[in-house]
Amino acid sequence: MCGIVGYVGTENAVDIIISSLKKLEYRGYDSAGITVLNQKLETYKTVGKIADLEKIIPANFTGHIGIGHTRWATHGKPETRNAHPHLSSNIAVVHNGIIENYMKLKEKLISQGYEFLSDTDTEVIAHLLHSTIKNNTQFSLLDAVRHVMNEMEGSYAIAVLYTAEPDHIVLARKDSPLVIGLGNNGFFAASDVTAFLRYTKNAVYVNDKELVLISPTGVEFYNNDGQQIEKKVDIIEWDEEAAEKAGYEHFMLKEIHEQSASIQDTYAGKISELEGRVILDELKMSDDQLKNLQRITIIACGTSWNAGCVGKYLFESLAGIHTDIETASEFRYGDPVLCGQVFTLAITQSGETADTLAAIRSSKAYGCKAAAITNVVGSSITRETDSVLFTRAGPEIGVAATKTFTAQLIILYLMAIHMGTVRGRLTPENARDILVGIKQLPGQVQKVLNNKNIIKECAEHYAKVQDYFFIGRHVNYPVSLEGALKLKEISYIHAEGYAAGELKHGPLALISSETPVVAIATKGHTYEKVLSNIKEVKARGAEVIAIANQSDTEINKYVDMVLRIPDCHELLSPVLSSVVLQLLAYYTAYARGCSIDKPRNLAKSVTVE
Ligand code: AGP
Repeated sequence: MCGIVGYVGTENAVDIIISSLKKLEYRGYDSAGITVLNQKLETYKTVGKIADLEKIIPANFTGHIGIGHTRWATHGKPETRNAHPHLSSNIAVVHNGIIENYMKLKEKLISQGYEFLSDTDTEVIAHLLHSTIKNNTQFSLLDAVRHVMNEMEGSYAIAVLYTAEPDHIVLARKDSPLVIGLGNNGFFAASDVTAFLRYTKNAVYVNDKELVLISPTGVEFYNNDGQQIEKKVDIIEWDEEAAEKAGYEHFMLKEIHEQSASIQDTYAGKISELEGRVILDELKMSDDQLKNLQRITIIACGTSWNAGCVGKYLFESLAGIHTDIETASEFRYGDPVLCGQVFTLAITQSGETADTLAAIRSSKAYGCKAAAITNVVGSSITRETDSVLFTRAGPEIGVAATKTFTAQLIILYLMAIHMGTVRGRLTPENARDILVGIKQLPGQVQKVLNNKNIIKECAEHYAKVQDYFFIGRHVNYPVSLEGALKLKEISYIHAEGYAAGELKHGPLALISSETPVVAIATKGHTYEKVLSNIKEVKARGAEVIAIANQSDTEINKYVDMVLRIPDCHELLSPVLSSVVLQLLAYYTAYARGCSIDKPRNLAKSVTVE
């Protein structure tokens, strides 16, 4: 995830910016850069680590005002020309977030004669500021930033330097974090407090649509109407390690809590709710190609495979396309029956899973068109496939996949709706229904998170059991698989995920009062069937924890505990149920004293067979 920093004061800005950027390294990044303002803007940037940036900075590079950035690629590959800061003549900008309407703005700026040196959305901000000041000569930098904020759609935390106003940095935010540090020898700005905690513990959190001006003598805060406002100073009690996790005890818990934002970032710019359609140019498939598509073969491992399994239901029910879901390690040594009409889709958060890469290579040998869903721009899978759909979940540090899973689901919804609309299976009204539902997910995820205490109580109650069962039907069947995978991965409890209707064909023999069963019983066309399966396991003595919708008043009669999710479209419930299951796994592992972020025997990226 990108990180921005800024400093103005009496100390050497280069040293402070470099040390602050190092503190943001934990967020994950692929390139870095710095600009210092000494009458003119002097910029250094590179692909790689902060240590690589230090190597190219000359010893005499100093100053008292500057901005810096660590980039996690979203628009454009990890290349030096895409690294921040981005410049437009006498303006330098660093940015964290996504400008959704950047293509439209870019076209306008190109028609005005602006030349773009990068593939990023951020360069648009630099040129937009330059053009605003050029066309409104009375504007200060603060005025220009305020003006440009009204033109930009999406999320941003930005820090701007302007040679004509050499003693201050202007900052602004919308839907992307920004915090100001108040030091004795200067003022700091950063994406999170970790960056400047060694210099000051006095911080002011910037709210959406607020602007900030930091100079050697003080800080001024403004609202979007240009009025100066007062802000509260917080004293940060965290040490640096706690701050990296934003105060959460584990990266996994932090990442679970980031899902409201990561879901929004993933669908940003891809939904036209008004027209009831999805904008998915990255898929690089014409309407004719989509209409003629006969089969989709999804290839993935682990959690990504579980997401793919939800995808199978979506492609079949929303787009009417026969879909297979293949385990990459099996597919690569099987004898798949494929031909040019089959579209293969690799799902891999890391983009580096050896089995998935090998399987997609072998599918290409059959002449299939291949696409990938991944979270990492520039990863190996992006070079192996014809098109790439990026989840924008930001780096995931906990070994257990959480926010990348829900982001994968979002891309799968968008793909299925897009294909269904083009193929005439979905009317714009039907599509709009689901798209409206997708846009409600961030708020609904937040509601689930707000109720985490009951999930914690449930986890603690059953923390000592040796076996768990998870059951669900239709799209909730893969959710049950994911719930079981998450639990065994981090708590080391044996857990099985089952299609609820399959229990009676064998596993029912294992059900007893010792095996709690988590039943995903959200409203939908299989709800009644799941109720019957709940009765089946209750009759064998099992205690049942149901995941059910908020408005379901019936469920309490049949189960021992209910974990609620907000009411939603039946196909969208996997996103919300998964958040519940992630928290259940997390709190169970916590109660058992397990190593949550680095479970035994597992690695984040499985680059070997
Ligand atoms: C998920 O919690 C696991 N860490 C694991 O199953 C993972 O999903 C699998 O190894 C696939 O990884 P990928 O998405 O990076 O390809």
